[in-house]
Amino acid sequence: MTTSTGRHFLQIPGPTNVPDEVLRAMSAPTIDHRGPDFSDLLTELLRDVRPVFGTTGPVVVFPASGTGAWEAALVNTLSPGDTVLCFETGHFATLWQEMATRLGFTVDFVPGDWRHGVDPAVVAERLAADTAHRVKAVCVVHNETSTGVTSRIPEIRRAIDDAGHPALFLVDTISSLGSIDYRHDEWGVDVTVSCSQKGLMLPPGLSFNAISAKALTAAGSARTPRSYWDWAPMLEANDRGFTPYTPATNLLYGLRAALRVLYAEGLENVFARHARHAEATRAAVRAWGLEILCADDREHSNVLTAVLVPDGADADHVRRTILDRYDMSLGAGLGRLAGRVFRIGHLGHTNDLTIAGTLAGVQMGLQAAGVKVSPDGVNAALDLLGRPAG
Ligand SMILES: Cc1ncc(COP(=O)(O)O)c(C=O)c1O
Repeated sequence: MTTSTGRHFLQIPGPTNVPDEVLRAMSAPTIDHRGPDFSDLLTELLRDVRPVFGTTGPVVVFPASGTGAWEAALVNTLSPGDTVLCFETGHFATLWQEMATRLGFTVDFVPGDWRHGVDPAVVAERLAADTAHRVKAVCVVHNETSTGVTSRIPEIRRAIDDAGHPALFLVDTISSLGSIDYRHDEWGVDVTVSCSQKGLMLPPGLSFNAISAKALTAAGSARTPRSYWDWAPMLEANDRGFTPYTPATNLLYGLRAALRVLYAEGLENVFARHARHAEATRAAVRAWGLEILCADDREHSNVLTAVLVPDGADADHVRRTILDRYDMSLGAGLGRLAGRVFRIGHLGHTNDLTIAGTLAGVQMGLQAAGVKVSPDGVNAALDLLGRPAG
């Protein structure tokens, strides 16, 4: 049996480390979700969560993992047989389009190499060719958690507009929200999908849809059967400070505390911290002599870095070695990347020393697992982290 002392290093790209004040907030007694205190709590939260999404419009919260919010976005806005345009940026984009297919929509899935984000030029091309406006929604994963690639949402919006196409724009921000700059209103997104366990620094269990006026109108005529995920009863109950079924009350206490943590730092500073830690991580990977999976410098993720191991090495062996020796969890390669990459999460409740410690653990673990890397990686990161922030 191995024993561990000190804190486990949870450096997967979500779920992320939960700050102590958030844990403490969630340990309060559960209250009556039909009483006045709950109504005050929910009303406050539904207002205060909006700036994280960059919206002044409604945000609904489901007791669910992010997958539930994916489904809610689709079933509220579309009718059976509608066409959706999806892009193969990685494992999660693939899962989302599989869900759309299972739900009875027609998916136009643009192939990808899992090293690039959505190409705005391809969006423009596909939509310009769709003169009959068969495509009812464009679905994009903002930060593809399986690859560490971030798609450029404003440019994709521009491509939709340039094509003069009326499709709804649905964006998955499951691993970007609260970590990477995101603007639902300004970028003209119709449904933003998200969840609790990544940038919001909460345990899994809450999922979100931010909804534009255009998406609300679409929901009025969408014919896909829906019940649990239906926005209409949720919005109607939310107006009174309630929910149509039992909410995840203690996670909502946590959300209130997590929003306080984020706003105390300031969203701009939160985004800058993530950018800095991502840069330090990439500096380490390059100095080790390893390859970053993301192939376009404009698309590096600020929340995780997927690292390719050299031919003949096994990324899962590296991860196992690091877990056994240093009590640190890293993200596995998913889908077609299994065994070929490991993913370093650098999002959520982090600071310079947790990033430095993470990279030290990765460097030692790579060496222990027999992967030849230069010992300069950690120093390259420390050089960067040692410079004053901002
Ligand atoms: C980008 C992205 N989309 C969707 C999901 C699915 O979310 P969940 O596992 O919370 O259902 C994940 C999970 O990590 C994700 O990273």
